[in-house]
Amino acid sequence: MIILKLGGSIITKKDYATPTLDNKNLARIAHEISESSYGKLIIVHGAGSFGHPFASKYGIGDEIKDDQDLWNKMLGFSITQHGVKELNGLVCEYLRIHGVLSVSIQPSSFMLTKNKRLYSASLDLIRKYLDLGFVPVIYGDVVLDLDESIKIAVLSGDQIVKYLAENLRPERVIMASDVDGIYNKNPKINPDAELLKVVTSNEQIELIKNNQTVDVTGGMSGKLTELLELANLGVESEIINANKFNIIKNALNGEKVTGTLIKKNI
Ligand code: ATP
Ligand code: IPE
Repeated sequence: MIILKLGGSIITKKDYATPTLDNKNLARIAHEISESSYGKLIIVHGAGSFGHPFASKYGIGDEIKDDQDLWNKMLGFSITQHGVKELNGLVCEYLRIHGVLSVSIQPSSFMLTKNKRLYSASLDLIRKYLDLGFVPVIYGDVVLDLDESIKIAVLSGDQIVKYLAENLRPERVIMASDVDGIYNKNPKINPDAELLKVVTSNEQIELIKNNQTVDVTGGMSGKLTELLELANLGVESEIINANKFNIIKNALNGEKVTGTLIKKNI
């Protein structure tokens, strides 16, 4: 089994204020997936411009101040849920058109968080879809939170990857981003940044924190935190650049590609 995460920055124009698909990238990636050989495959995708602008505008996940604030956040929940669902529909459609048997899985219909951390979800249905040969496609979403002071939260695709990997124990976890992997500093603004082939500790996270663009779920440092926790649970992962031609295809086929391996700190 492979879990493949497609970051919001590669399937959408993430820095746009309104939902905008990167249709060229999505079509190419869907084609690459269809051309590769995989057994069981789960695809998790981010929200990009279909989710972050709304979640941030309505302060989803912030403490509820009063009834009016709750009403506003519920409105934001509804709008954000619609945005990310629309993106998921497009991802599933592009995959299907290219020959991948995608099936849509909506987190807000069965996943709950507690203080913004994924707390419960039954994976039986996902297992059944996989057994039949479907490729489940799940995504960053808004969900109900058990913490009474929050009530609703944003659940990132990265948290979902960690939860699925922890419980389903895939052979590989591949995170497709828009950079070659994790660098010692943000490569987008530091031309001298160096790619780290292996990351085993979150000491590097401090270097990243100050440098990233606004992202309600934590950007690269949030991703690294999830992946280090996962590594400590015994599942390694790799970050690769999906903007580069055939990297996803080669990675799915088990070939060695440029990237960062996140390993347990021993
Ligand atoms: P998702 O959108 O699902 O969160 P993603 O991989 O598509 O994942 P980001 O969360 O935006 O995208 O994280 C990737 C971005 O993080 C890069 O485009 C880069 O600008 C930024 N970044 C900041 N610091 C670093 C670093 N040290 N190494 C690599 N990328 C970094
Ligand atoms: C965020 O999901 C979900 C919402 C904003 C509702 P992600 O955190 O996985 O999205 P990207 O990949 O960073 O765009």
